[in-house]
Amino acid sequence: NSGVPDAKNLRVKLVLLGDSGVGKSCIVLRFVRGQFDPTSKVTVGASFLSQTIALQDSTTVKFEIWDTAGQEREELIVYFVSLRYAALAPLYYRGAGVAVIVYDITSPDSFTKAQYWVKELQKHGSPDIVMALVGNKADLHEKREVPVQDGIDYAEKNGMFFIETSAKTADNINQLFEEIGKRLP
Ligand code: GTP
Ligand code: MG
Repeated sequence: NSGVPDAKNLRVKLVLLGDSGVGKSCIVLRFVRGQFDPTSKVTVGASFLSQTIALQDSTTVKFEIWDTAGQEREELIVYFVSLRYAALAPLYYRGAGVAVIVYDITSPDSFTKAQYWVKELQKHGSPDIVMALVGNKADLHEKREVPVQDGIDYAEKNGMFFIETSAKTADNINQLFEEIGKRLP
């Protein structure tokens, strides 16, 4: 035994879900390019980006990120669920190992929408999917309308990882992906 640890290279499909405007695309841009775009445009359809990180135990994780459009979700789901064929169902999160469900801490509606996504994934997602609940725009603390504790409680009840982030200041963005990496099977 040489004592040299085996390097592990993981690859996982990660899907971002959540209401339009909560900051999904900005989180991805911050994570992948280290940038913030205050004039970020509404995503149409879905966009794909990948980023690899190294964890402390010499594991690398390649995230294949599907950034979905908050605005089109409902119609799509109604459409796919109405088809009733499991193979055609949930287009974006089919085969996803990780689902990151994002809300905006200044928007209670977006928190309600996030809970809808959690239920949807519990019903239709793969059973061993790693789910993270993210309260974004944590920099807007003066406009906060969703208490931190509400996020913590909901995530705990549903066996999810929880974190508050700011794509604007970069607060907790890398931590979000590192913590997900550590939780991969
Ligand atoms: P859809 O593509 O429509 O689903 O929206 P989205 O969730 O991708 O939102 P997007 O990332 O485009 O961000 C929407 C708006 O919120 C933009 O004006 C961003 O600049 C702003 N925004 C995103 N993240 C943050 C943040 O952490 N803090 C602040 N203050 N603003 C943010
Ligand atoms: Mg977007």
